[in-house]
Amino acid sequence: MTEWDADAGVSYKRRGSLRLFGGLVWKVWEMSTDLPGVSETSLWTLYHRAAEAGRTNTVLPDPQAVRLVSELCFPFREHFGKPRAWVAQAIALRALTFDRVVKQFLTTHPDGTVIALGEGLETQFWRVDNGRVQWITVDLADQIELRRQVLPHGPRQVAVTCDVRDHRWMNGIHSAGGVLVTAQGLLMYLEHDHVTELITACAEAFPGATMVFDTVSRRFSARSRRGGKGPGGYRLPPMPWGMDPPARRELQASIPAVSTAEEVAWAPGRGLVGYLTSHAGQVPQLRNNRPLITRLRFGRTEDEAEYPKPSGLSSRP
Ligand SMILES: C[S@@+](CC[C@H](N)C(=O)[O-])C[C@H]1O[C@@H](n2cnc3c(N)ncnc32)[C@H](O)[C@@H]1O
Repeated sequence: MTEWDADAGVSYKRRGSLRLFGGLVWKVWEMSTDLPGVSETSLWTLYHRAAEAGRTNTVLPDPQAVRLVSELCFPFREHFGKPRAWVAQAIALRALTFDRVVKQFLTTHPDGTVIALGEGLETQFWRVDNGRVQWITVDLADQIELRRQVLPHGPRQVAVTCDVRDHRWMNGIHSAGGVLVTAQGLLMYLEHDHVTELITACAEAFPGATMVFDTVSRRFSARSRRGGKGPGGYRLPPMPWGMDPPARRELQASIPAVSTAEEVAWAPGRGLVGYLTSHAGQVPQLRNNRPLITRLRFGRTEDEAEYPKPSGLSSRP
């Protein structure tokens, strides 16, 4: 795996080691950033994707996630509790929706570059790889260190150690084949101004590119800041930034380089949860208080013709 360290001000020191199944050693790093607890959320999402993938009627087969959870010497159940089926399906449906956006991008840009911000232990590359995509993972030092050990990267994958609030991660990225920036489960952990600065910087660095990210509602954000428990009872770290549907237009209006901002419909799933995640916008009680997935296009509106909507992947302006 190629690794580039942007020296982005994230200092950390080794605290100990955990021996992994098969003899691998997972170093436990103690981070001194102002983001305590955020890093372990990648284990929480991994745990739930693996739980969902273990079902015979899963919405998202994910053998790499199942392998990781069985091999990592981490007390998942003690730490996060028993995985709840509805949370596991919701997390998997979010990942599936992102997968569909990436696959759609790769149909029009088969040699494109996907930049996965805050990728943690996401195994999306192995679910969507077309054999040609260039894949860039950007995350904090402890995550990249762990990922490097348990998810060995191939020649088309690059890991960048950088805080996304420091835009040096953009240096040297080739965008000739087209760029898709993804931020799954990340932006809610940033402050509003950092989100705006990040999107603005992406739009300026990658004109013609697309960015997809998910958000929690403002109400959910406020609850997390009060220390409330998240879905399934696990206390997720505070999420300073939340966004409700009307804010999409404000976001677009406040960043001139964003040409379009549209909601991406969630992939449909199983049963009530599967129905609600994809139809929440039509339920009056949830319409303005729900997780959203948003796709932005930067500049060059004529590029829109390149993105035909595949069946089943709808979007709302
Ligand atoms: C909830 S996890 C999501 C992981 C993965 N994207 C997924 O969906 O499973 C949040 C990830 O964002 C990363 N992260 C949080 N703040 C960050 C920052 N300022 N810069 C870079 N990565 C960050 C964390 O280290 C973690 O890997």
